[in-house]
Amino acid sequence: MAHGHADHELHSDDEALAAIEHHHAHMLERVTALAEAIVAAVEAGDVGTAHDEKANLVEWCENDLIPHAVAEEGPLYGGAGRTDKGHLLVEGMLQDHQAIIGLVEELRAAEGARAAALGFAIARAFQLHLRKENGLLFPYIAAHPDLSLAESVRGLEEIVGS
Ligand SMILES: [Fe+2]
Ligand SMILES: [Fe+2]
Repeated sequence: MAHGHADHELHSDDEALAAIEHHHAHMLERVTALAEAIVAAVEAGDVGTAHDEKANLVEWCENDLIPHAVAEEGPLYGGAGRTDKGHLLVEGMLQDHQAIIGLVEELRAAEGARAAALGFAIARAFQLHLRKENGLLFPYIAAHPDLSLAESVRGLEEIVGS
């Protein structure tokens, strides 16, 4: 896992939560645009462009989405996963990651309408997942007296953005 260069100096858990939410929003915008581009190409009957846009989405998943998930599975999920109340929630988040990565694997082999459908499935699954992280897991970590959201994401550009 590559660590980011930028030190964001996130001093509080509130700042960390805001940075994560901002990065999630940016990622959602990107994955949605990439999925829309496949749909548009398929609707236009442009097989070549549909193939290229599918490749763009696969590349983004490899370079951004999967490294984001892997980075979260380090200290961030790890700390909450060792708490009584957090461990089932973390288990659910890990299952989401596996499901989303499974969709990316399906997308690699897909073309045309199937690729468009899988692209949208990835975007929507990511949206559901980040809502649970933003609204449940990360506020839980921020509020927990033994956990630090800011510490858990320090230097992780894949989670807080650059
Ligand atoms: Fe996640
Ligand atoms: Fe996330």
